[in-house]
Amino acid sequence: MGRVDGKVVLITGIARGQGRAHAVRLAEEGADIVGVDLLEDVATNSYPMATQADLDETVRLVEKLDRRIVVRKADVRDRVGLREAVDACVAELGGRLDGVVAQAGICPLGTDDAQAFLDAVSVDFNGVVNAVDAALPHLVDGGSVVATGSVAGLLTGSTDNPATGFGGLGYSFAKRSVAAFINDLALVLAPRSIRANAVHPTNTNTAMLNSDVMYKQFRPDLEHPTREDALLTFPRMNALPVGFVEPEDIAAMVLFLLSDESRYVTGMQMRVDAGAYVKNRPQQPTF
Ligand SMILES: NC(=O)c1ccc[n+]([C@@H]2O[C@H](COP(=O)([O-])OP(=O)(O)OC[C@H]3O[C@@H](n4cnc5c(N)ncnc54)[C@H](O)[C@@H]3O)[C@@H](O)[C@H]2O)c1
Repeated sequence: MGRVDGKVVLITGIARGQGRAHAVRLAEEGADIVGVDLLEDVATNSYPMATQADLDETVRLVEKLDRRIVVRKADVRDRVGLREAVDACVAELGGRLDGVVAQAGICPLGTDDAQAFLDAVSVDFNGVVNAVDAALPHLVDGGSVVATGSVAGLLTGSTDNPATGFGGLGYSFAKRSVAAFINDLALVLAPRSIRANAVHPTNTNTAMLNSDVMYKQFRPDLEHPTREDALLTFPRMNALPVGFVEPEDIAAMVLFLLSDESRYVTGMQMRVDAGAYVKNRPQQPTF
């Protein structure tokens, strides 16, 4: 018996990275999967988004586990288009959802252009609200909403500093907003026994972290830092002696929040951050 046997879960940003890891882990524990991904680049975001080949690979991995998966190309910024895509996928898979993982994201660091701020907010915050909106009509009582924030959104000076430009500012703003939205959403959905929790990862080993803009963020002293250069400073952020965690570490938390093991857990900000928050948060006043 799997930990999410027979559940159907919607995942945004499913083609690669954490989205793929969530799909595979949930499928291993008995869930069927509905997913969307943009499959196009975002002009202000310097590293590329996922491709059709990435999405095909996610589908292959889930089907290899003998679970069902239905995917569509859709943009979480487009509320109407996302709804249509989710409606069609859910109808194909039996007509109901037990959970949603709203986690499609971009990180347009280093772009000193207000458009980068707006793009980060549209994808990383509006995209979460739109995913919840698309899921809710199908979500059973007792369902679970999970949204991915970032420890960067909880700490001053991480992505909201002069080096990261307007795009970084937008990322922090969006991720803080995800935390606040989930906090309040938990109250609104509680009468239907639907839970809402946020997951806040530290550096995670995906295309978002393994990008030139991120290397520059961690090695501002070098003009063109490589991954090897950044690996030397990634660990500074965390309390535990690691530079980053794996997508599967985040998927373990997502699985818990989608399972009935967490049936009374709601309104939580779940950090999977190797202690980054406790290491870097501002001191509480002692007077
Ligand atoms: N990687 C990290 O270090 C890190 C740390 C903290 C939080 N996060 C968050 O984790 C989540 C997952 O990111 P990841 O690390 O897997 O990165 P990733 O770039 O590998 O994956 C992001 C996925 O979202 C998709 N996507 C982007 N914009 C979209 C849109 N408008 N509509 C639909 N799909 C879209 C991309 O195509 C891609 O498949 C994001 O919300 C990110 O902000 C990542």
